[in-house]
Amino acid sequence: MYSNRFGRLVLGLHSRKQAAVCGVVQSAAGRSGFSWTAVCEQRTLRLQRGACLKSQQHTMHRPISARSASQTTVDPDEVRRFQSLATKWWDEQGEFAALHAMNDLRVPFIRDNLLCVHGAYHPGKPLSGLRILDVGCGGGLLTEPLGRLGANVLGIDPVEHSIGTAQLHSSYDPDLQVCYRACTLEELSAEEEQGAGQFDAVVASEVVEHLADLETFAFCCSLVLKPGGSLFITTINKTKLSYALGIVVAEQLLRIVPRGTHDWEKFISPVELERLLESNGFSVQSVQGMLYNPVSGAWSWTDSTAINYALHAVKLRDDPQPDHAEESSSHPEDHTAASHS
Ligand SMILES: C[S@@+](CC[C@H](N)C(=O)[O-])C[C@H]1O[C@@H](n2cnc3c(N)ncnc32)[C@H](O)[C@@H]1O
Repeated sequence: MYSNRFGRLVLGLHSRKQAAVCGVVQSAAGRSGFSWTAVCEQRTLRLQRGACLKSQQHTMHRPISARSASQTTVDPDEVRRFQSLATKWWDEQGEFAALHAMNDLRVPFIRDNLLCVHGAYHPGKPLSGLRILDVGCGGGLLTEPLGRLGANVLGIDPVEHSIGTAQLHSSYDPDLQVCYRACTLEELSAEEEQGAGQFDAVVASEVVEHLADLETFAFCCSLVLKPGGSLFITTINKTKLSYALGIVVAEQLLRIVPRGTHDWEKFISPVELERLLESNGFSVQSVQGMLYNPVSGAWSWTDSTAINYALHAVKLRDDPQPDHAEESSSHPEDHTAASHS
């Protein structure tokens, strides 16, 4: 599904002329009237209820109930599909060839944006001191290079066999500072010590198009991030082009990809994704199109977000509650200092 064969079909036929003009989206860092604390409290309660349920029905082996009722990101069909591919992650010419090649773009994208946000530079290990969560890490194709840049990376995935593959592969490099867990983001975010507010960055690369509930995903990303932390997403746009090539041609006509591999309904446009993230306390900093060259097997940046794109968002620092701010500060300067982060 991520092999060169699929990439050639989808991207080789892609015309840049049809691309939406959406190179970089800049957003205001704050929205008036938004109270992240209030939203957070309500949803935390709902999630905690859901987490009790979910801890009893861990992803692979037990059935997951209706997605909105149980607040889960897990689609059992997706989990089964990736389970069947769990031994293929490190075959650079195999099913995941395009994901291997995508590291040439996504690793510098994450590194450079994190350096902009965090400033400090450590020669050789530029991400030293940062904790990164790689959600839907699969076999660790992105987790490992981020670890080699000095970050302390935790990779999570609901597919236990993929986590096994990731652990085995990383064990060949004893210097690598990465760890893995078979769990979901919502389970991790419900843990006080490991989850909430622990991470400088969350990465979800080629994952959101496989989730059952994006609202829960966005909310949990915010929960596990420190204020000011970064969220990096790469995914597929929801366009006529992605339907025509990704679903009709690739799956139904040419049968290059097994029927049902992609659900176009789960694709999301940059604008929709930005709206979702902003309603969950993020400010989107940039959205950048990515293009796969089917001949060279390489990715490059493009102004077009018509098919693939990368997004960087930052978790807003919470505004103080008005009455609380008044109680805790008697000087006008204190109000100014507290009210903006
Ligand atoms: C296309 S792969 C991407 C893997 C990895 N991020 C990469 O780019 O190399 C999608 C991954 O999402 C995982 N996944 C599916 N449902 C998930 C969920 N609810 N939460 C986290 N990961 C999930 C799959 O198991 C799979 O490893």
